[in-house]
Amino acid sequence: MKNFNLGMTRKFGGKKLCIPINDNPPLKMFLGKGTYGSVRVRENLAVKKFHEVRHIIQEYLAGSYLDNARNIVRIHEVDIRKLNLSMELYQMNLRHWMEDNYDRKKFNDRYFILHEILVGLCEIHGRGLIHGDIKPGNILINEKPLKVALGDLGFVSLNRYAKVKYTAKVYRDSVIRQSFVHDLFSLGVLMIELFGRIKVRAVCTYSELKTIARDKISDRKLREIIFDLVDEDPHQRPKAKSILYHLYSETIPIHRKEIPAVRDIVHCSNAFSSMRDVGTQFGLAMIERCIEALKYYIQTHEIDHEDCISYGIAMLLISSSLYRISKFNLSKALIHSELVKDDFLLYLCDLLANNDVITILLKG
Ligand SMILES: Nc1ncnc2c1ncn2[C@@H]1O[C@H](COP(=O)(O)OP(=O)(O)O)[C@@H](O)[C@H]1O
Ligand SMILES: [Mg+2]
Repeated sequence: MKNFNLGMTRKFGGKKLCIPINDNPPLKMFLGKGTYGSVRVRENLAVKKFHEVRHIIQEYLAGSYLDNARNIVRIHEVDIRKLNLSMELYQMNLRHWMEDNYDRKKFNDRYFILHEILVGLCEIHGRGLIHGDIKPGNILINEKPLKVALGDLGFVSLNRYAKVKYTAKVYRDSVIRQSFVHDLFSLGVLMIELFGRIKVRAVCTYSELKTIARDKISDRKLREIIFDLVDEDPHQRPKAKSILYHLYSETIPIHRKEIPAVRDIVHCSNAFSSMRDVGTQFGLAMIERCIEALKYYIQTHEIDHEDCISYGIAMLLISSSLYRISKFNLSKALIHSELVKDDFLLYLCDLLANNDVITILLKG
């Protein structure tokens, strides 16, 4: 990751180094507002301001894991203390693009945008992840030349834990499934809007969506794909990679990250047992995966016994951000670690800054 700045001091060889943090210039132009925060422009970047540390952890982890994926918005910096995530800036979202001079928008451009969305989806689904909020407002666009990326990674996680319950209603399959087929239904609704020159305003049944597609989509191949995507039977829905092949005769390789080898270690075993205890107490998910990631961090760094416990608690906060939502939030983490916020965030940032730790946490 480029320009890594956690907005915090980092630990090196067990010693805390202080890096002075300049106060950032104010955020200027307003870009948008959604579930977790607001997005503004600062110095040619889009900066998303969060209200809760768990939300920024989740979105930052998803973006970091996908930093080698095509057509996914790139993260530049994260400031955990100020809850700012800065990303590559786009000119607009797909909703704006569609509403701006719609009749003058060429079919070829819409066809290209679909291609780029499919590539992004292949990258996400090919890694065993779900986007969870596919809709025009979350597709980022630059014009002249056209450039497209999937934005808003706020619900992205492993299939089982993606926040699919919170997908915008119109794009949400009425049967919630922790599967990539959830995104495919959303894609079907998005395609109706993109090619049918309409905005789907209300939640529609499967058959209502098919009726709209029948009336509005003149291209036969696209219409048939939309029919399958919005089908009640999720097995009918073609995968993003099949659509890419069918419409564009393309297959794309997915370059998953190499999974680091984790050794079993004796050192810090009481930190692991306390992670299991607190994990059970709060109903946290994927604790063994979190322990595996922490073992990797410990085996590649010199960590004092006392620090292991604090890293363990930081890892539990990561679990509560990325996997099952639980009552284990920042204040609970501070109580359990007996640290003040700024000290606790140092431990958290050490873990978040480690790409291999992230790969272990999100490997699908
Ligand atoms: N990188 C970006 N470049 C330009 N605009 C963006 C960018 N990220 C988000 N936006 C704008 O801000 C809006 C809200 O951002 P989003 O990430 O979707 O947040 P939320 O989780 O609050 O929905 C988007 O619909 C889009 O218009
Ligand atoms: Mg959004």
